[in-house]
Amino acid sequence: MMLSLALFASGNGSNLIAIFNAIQNKQLDSRINLVLSNNSESGALQFAREHGLNAIHLSSKTAPNHHDFITTMLQNLTDAHINFIALAGYMKIVPAEVITYYKNKIVNIHPALLPRFGGPGMYGLHVHEAVLKSGEKKTGATVHFVDEIYDHGAIILQKEVDVLETDTPQTLAERVLKVEHEIYPRTLQLFAEHRVQVDHNRVTILSAPNFTHVKN
Ligand code: GRF
Repeated sequence: MMLSLALFASGNGSNLIAIFNAIQNKQLDSRINLVLSNNSESGALQFAREHGLNAIHLSSKTAPNHHDFITTMLQNLTDAHINFIALAGYMKIVPAEVITYYKNKIVNIHPALLPRFGGPGMYGLHVHEAVLKSGEKKTGATVHFVDEIYDHGAIILQKEVDVLETDTPQTLAERVLKVEHEIYPRTLQLFAEHRVQVDHNRVTILSAPNFTHVKN
């Protein structure tokens, strides 16, 4: 299935760029048909506009009435024929109506090994500060489903990153971000290949069909 993606972002947009590049390099069978940001100044929105992507600024300022906000969001998603949503540094809660409409079709990336170091307040450098303070020797990145609770939905894919003695929150953030850029497009490709199965909040990744049976 070709994913018709919407990316929701609030910040720099480096994950958006990684996904965009993976599509260009034919590692990801998708189209980015919508970029939505609550932040008119975001790097994500700037990148989207510079690259001719369909981009909208939607926030409580552009749509102060919550009902209008939800209607506008859903309208934009339907107009762009979106079948999958990836949050890439989106700092707002996705309305419950949208989560229900796109059940098991919204994912997020988090810069730690959930369920540890997630939840309210655990964003940006706060996450890496908390990891360093805890003395954990490993951290990483997690792609997970989005449900109504922050950083709570079922985990789809994780990759570990070693924590070094010399790490500061910034150096750790940098290494984790590199891993994010690797695993986010890869996870989306698993969806494009129909290899992610969800049953009662349990995720199974089906192995790739084995086309090359070479026997000597
Ligand atoms: C990433 O660290 C991501 O895990 C978190 O927000 C950050 C977004 O970075 N949810 P960017 O805007 O994609 O560069």
